[in-house]
Amino acid sequence: MSEQAADTAVLVEERSFPPSPEFAAAANGTQDLFDRAGEDRLAFWAEQARRYVKWDKDFEEVLDWSDAPFAKWFVGGKLNACYNAVDRHVEAGIGDRVAFHFVGEPGDHEAVTYADMHVRVQRAANALIDLGLRAGDTVAIYMPNTPDAVAAMLACARIGAPHSVVFGGFSAEALRTRIDDVGAKLVITGDGLYRKGAPYALKPVVDEALASGETTVENVLVVQRTKQEIGWVEGRDHWWHEALEAADPTHEPEAFDSEHPLYILYTSGTTGKPKGILHTTGGYLTQAAFTNHVVHDIHPETDVYWCTADIGWVTGHSYTVYGPMTLGATQVIYEGTPDQPHKGRFWEIVQEHKVTILYTAPTAIRTFMKWGRDIPEQFDLSSLRLLGSVGEPINPEAWIWYRDVIGGGQTPVVDTWWQTETGAIMITPIPGVTAARPGSAQHPIPGVSALVVDDEGRPVERGSAGYLVVTEPWPSMLRGIWGDPQRFKDGYWSRFPGIYFAGDGARLDEDGNIWISGRIDDVMNVSGHRLSTAEVESALVSHAKVAEAAVVAASDEVTGQAICAFVILRQDAVEEADEVGEGAELVAELRNHVAHEIGSIAKPKKIMVVAELPKTRSGKIMRRLLRDVAEHRELGDVTTLADASVMNLISAGIASGK
Ligand code: WTA
Repeated sequence: MSEQAADTAVLVEERSFPPSPEFAAAANGTQDLFDRAGEDRLAFWAEQARRYVKWDKDFEEVLDWSDAPFAKWFVGGKLNACYNAVDRHVEAGIGDRVAFHFVGEPGDHEAVTYADMHVRVQRAANALIDLGLRAGDTVAIYMPNTPDAVAAMLACARIGAPHSVVFGGFSAEALRTRIDDVGAKLVITGDGLYRKGAPYALKPVVDEALASGETTVENVLVVQRTKQEIGWVEGRDHWWHEALEAADPTHEPEAFDSEHPLYILYTSGTTGKPKGILHTTGGYLTQAAFTNHVVHDIHPETDVYWCTADIGWVTGHSYTVYGPMTLGATQVIYEGTPDQPHKGRFWEIVQEHKVTILYTAPTAIRTFMKWGRDIPEQFDLSSLRLLGSVGEPINPEAWIWYRDVIGGGQTPVVDTWWQTETGAIMITPIPGVTAARPGSAQHPIPGVSALVVDDEGRPVERGSAGYLVVTEPWPSMLRGIWGDPQRFKDGYWSRFPGIYFAGDGARLDEDGNIWISGRIDDVMNVSGHRLSTAEVESALVSHAKVAEAAVVAASDEVTGQAICAFVILRQDAVEEADEVGEGAELVAELRNHVAHEIGSIAKPKKIMVVAELPKTRSGKIMRRLLRDVAEHRELGDVTTLADASVMNLISAGIASGK
């Protein structure tokens, strides 16, 4: 069993919070869903597909698993995802419903209705066609978190051009790798965005990304947001607002096959190369909308829902764009950081827009805890009736604080486990049904079969820990890794043949609840962002002064995990460092280098310069020992080290601050 899986055994939390009878009576999710899914899983999903999605042509077969692990869901069905997110609501006569209350960081507001979105996506779709885009072409989106970013994604979906959104915090280098891997013909970006109280440029990053070598990118569309000075490449660059204005205002959405690629989203795996996770249309939309309805309990007529994730992550894709818009929900979308211009910004937004459902990450909750309850207590949060958590394990203390301080001690809290790969929520309490257990994601949703298994793939007994797996295909599952079918098979389906290996450790408690402990591979989770140790290591060794690097994740009170790097300098750099005594400067230089290579989310919290790294006789770095150092623990077993004295050197160097 993995080390992390064993760690969870210390977590014991017995409190239980059943839903209030009033909440349960009005809730979308009911016990009946579990019963029906239990009777006939595929019939259950067929029912959800027809309930939540409008099909241009009904499907003939629910699941084709003959080419496993490449699934085909709702075979023969045809639909348009953008039509489902926008047009259908206008046709149903609710076009004047607000789709987004946009809140810009500097304080600007814009209410965008479904009818407004309808105008925007039609013009944008035509603008893309005018630029030569056709179904099957790919588009990279590198944008601020605004309704225009949503419109850009939906315009791509409308014409069948899979989008690949790259989080606005990624560097030029990271953006370029993703553009190249997906072969994007177009980049949609912004001049900049507002973050941490200041304009932050995006367009220059795109320019830098496209500057060198041959690129597949033919055009760049630029949304105007900050109006800052930017460079311009004539013929390649076009203003979004001008292109939309020049475009035909009407566009008939085309029906695409249920398995038509909807998007590719890159995420970190165990190697340095990010994986392009591929999602297709019908199954993805079905599970995103279904879970958003029954887990977040959205009542589109009355709720104001706010998912705080950026559209650059899968949470923004499924629970800002495709899920809630398919349901016709009213949402808040916020551009900036939670402490701008003050630490009560989130609560001010909740108060002002009477947010009823809030979906955020444990790292944010722990930050709010650290800032103190007196901040949220200054605001009226009584509109909130449901709280959700996603992205990393939530510790019971943070869960209780969230419910007590933000939820007034009343609201259900749903701790939702899922991944970029799963596309939608997989394990979570259902708020009107499940008695919630703080810190546990609890049970698979109706229609999903997840288990905790041991090394041999056998289900563990209650009270034991093991690996989290999914034993049956599910509608929103990834359809593969872009351009790398073998990596898809090897990475997810070979550890236990025929079943999906999630890469997370988990424990099953005495009551049958699932507790996710975190990654058991070399993937780190920093503030809910996935990064691989190899990615950060290769960024470090690309610096001229670094000979070797080893990266580990150390547990961190606020960010869940923090990146801790051990580096060996090249000989000339060591001599130079000694002469000018640039220890702190060098560390700052290396941190900035990582930010330049990947993005600031990957900056190591700590960098320790060491003379040697602990290796086994076969040359494998023993990260376990480095984690012990990083977490200031007594060292574990060192007997397999090639040279056991290395650890003394490292520990001594750290103690002396070198
Ligand atoms: C972790 C984010 C515990 C987990 C939607 C998973 C969680 C990885 C939870 C996926 C949760 C996500 N409890 N751990 N409720 N939700 N994780 O792809 O390690 O960015 O494998 O998707 O986050 O991260 P990703």
